Amino acid sequence: MPRVFSGIQPTGSLHLGNLLGAVRNWVHEQDQADSFYCVVDLHALTVPAAPGAVGSQTLELATTLLACGLDPARCTLFVQSHVPQHTSLGWILQCTTGFGELRRMTQFKEKSLGQDSVSAGLFTYPALQAADILLYDTDSVPVGEDQRQHIELTRDVAERFNSRYGETFVIPQAAVPTAGARVMDLQEPDRKMSKSSSTDAGIVGLDDPPESVVKKFKRAVTDSLGEVRYDPDAQPGVSNLLSILGAATNRAPESVAAEYTMYGPLKSDAGEAVVELLRPIQSQLAEFRSDPAAVAVALRTGADKAESVAAEVLERAERHIGLLPRR
Ligand code: TYM
Repeated sequence: MPRVFSGIQPTGSLHLGNLLGAVRNWVHEQDQADSFYCVVDLHALTVPAAPGAVGSQTLELATTLLACGLDPARCTLFVQSHVPQHTSLGWILQCTTGFGELRRMTQFKEKSLGQDSVSAGLFTYPALQAADILLYDTDSVPVGEDQRQHIELTRDVAERFNSRYGETFVIPQAAVPTAGARVMDLQEPDRKMSKSSSTDAGIVGLDDPPESVVKKFKRAVTDSLGEVRYDPDAQPGVSNLLSILGAATNRAPESVAAEYTMYGPLKSDAGEAVVELLRPIQSQLAEFRSDPAAVAVALRTGADKAESVAAEVLERAERHIGLLPRR
């Protein structure tokens, strides 16, 4: 069975972009691959957070992932800080990654732009991400479009390590979905939907009530061209609605476009389709929230399983480097 690994940060609530770009595919992969999914709490420390916030957001995110359909009997769901091999290999890979490579990372440029102070961790973040992936002998990494660059870097770093120290890491591939890989903000359709967006009206949260989802789609920014075509450059708002409706109903955005001539019906159908997509998740969310002990048990079991794989791969990497063994 191929090995799949992916991760998500516990910073703010899950949104429609996370679901369509990544989590939906994780749920699908559970039955196709030996899948490992990680709540990357250490990555969340790269930007300032109030004491206690990361822990409670980690539990909330894990709860939401279970509600989305990740099943601990069919995949390994765990928290990054519970498996200490991530930071050990992270350091080794910081020493295998070039300063210039990290400086080119788009996510770093976006997140550091206009900030008074930027942590060193935000800069070296992709080396820790590479460790996450390489620790599991991962073949495939299901992610949204915005993570493609980090997976390319992971491949480069793994190849460099292998050629320096001998065959150690499996070289992973990004698996980016054909639909929903880049969901845009409903109010600013030239920016991706993001937990850090400036207005709540542009983001659809997975726990948004149906009336709020419908309202957000009704108010979605379009344009004044008055035609429905899938053309993300010329019509970003309309194209985003077509992509979302297409992804939610498993159709190509171009074929969805052929069914509409006016923006109003497109907006209301996209809103309704998303409400239907979220309905089962929201009902499961209420159940999992009422049983945090079950979530904690799932995470503990997941960490034990993840650690047994990660320990072996870290030991292999350290042996190939030639660090002095402890015994
Ligand atoms: P994060 O937490 O920002 O996002 C989690 C996943 O959601 C996808 N995504 C989107 N997809 C489509 N449209 C959007 N608007 C959108 N916004 C987010 C992301 O592409 C991602 O797949 N660096 C990673 C976390 C990470 C990771 C890893 C991922 C750490 N280690 C190892 C894969 C493998 C991040 O910040 O994702």
